[in-house]
Amino acid sequence: MARSIQNQFYLRLSDLASMMKVSGDELKGELINLNIKVMLSYGKALIAPSDVRAYLKSKGYTYKKQIISFQMLKGGVAKTTSCLNIGLRAAMYGHRVLFMDLDQQANLSLALGVDDLKIPVFLDVLEKKKTLSDVIIKLSSHVSLVPSNLNNSVIERVLLNSYRNISNAVKKQIETVLNDYDLVVIDTAPSLSMLNTSVTCASDKIILPVNPDKFTVYGMQKHLLDLDQVKKDFDLDFQEKILFTKFDGRESASQSFLDQCFDICGDKMLDQYIRTSSDVKNSISPQKTIFDSVGNGKEDYDMVSREILGLFA
Ligand SMILES: Nc1ncnc2c1ncn2[C@@H]1O[C@H](COP(=O)(O)OP(=O)(O)OP(=O)(O)O)[C@@H](O)[C@H]1O
Ligand SMILES: [Mg+2]
Repeated sequence: MARSIQNQFYLRLSDLASMMKVSGDELKGELINLNIKVMLSYGKALIAPSDVRAYLKSKGYTYKKQIISFQMLKGGVAKTTSCLNIGLRAAMYGHRVLFMDLDQQANLSLALGVDDLKIPVFLDVLEKKKTLSDVIIKLSSHVSLVPSNLNNSVIERVLLNSYRNISNAVKKQIETVLNDYDLVVIDTAPSLSMLNTSVTCASDKIILPVNPDKFTVYGMQKHLLDLDQVKKDFDLDFQEKILFTKFDGRESASQSFLDQCFDICGDKMLDQYIRTSSDVKNSISPQKTIFDSVGNGKEDYDMVSREILGLFA
């Protein structure tokens, strides 16, 4: 089993107080009235996801179902990093999150502590050897994972040979488990593969991370064109959002690429961008999350998660 310390996915009371713009003491009073317990761990006050959920519901927040994929045909732009951190933050805010790792590199699975060539993966589901529910690993009360490993590398061939309607290959499977989750976050490989087209057909929202470099801007334009085509071909209604990552305020190139992205597709840009930071760089590790510490990575991914989830942003 991966992370054994369940409270790694607990929200700090100070973070909830700051989101709700109240003092820690005021929040504690509200929580007592709702019969919600605050836990102490190593001197930090923490709240369990189900209790955060009860609190946020009492404040009028609704947990609507969403399927969000992270895509970009260029590699290394922070798809996995963003999928991981946004998914974990959503769980801390009380969403029931299903991570789907659909990249054979399996970096998301590794980051969540799952590294096993023998476990069933999405390939087994497509080949009808397992149901999606069979392959899901429950990592904590609000975090589950459809793991990946190298066996998924033949998915393209399976789709080509056995699926006449690739628009349903991922969507139909997700529908079988959707009752149990609020948020499905899907990490993908850097390509415009058939599998990724299937993922697009299942997505309500597609987050496209981009970095400050020339090739990323080309990649972004190409990927957006491809998504437009898929939208027309399959008569879809997803939203695409660009997430600028690895922004470095010390480099003028970062600002000029950010401006360029706003010029090319201003309405599709997320307001929040992610700064380059060592805490984010080290976050693909099963030992800790960026939300355990204080830093730019925590601040940026908290804000972008709230923007995407419509959570008091
Ligand atoms: N904000 C950041 N600051 C510093 N390093 C970062 C940041 N975001 C991501 N990285 C680092 O960039 C590298 C690529 O990130 P990641 O693996 O998330 O990209 P990816 O798009 O999923 O790559 P691939 O296309 O191979 O799947 C990793 O080493 C990651 O730690
Ligand atoms: Mg990746």
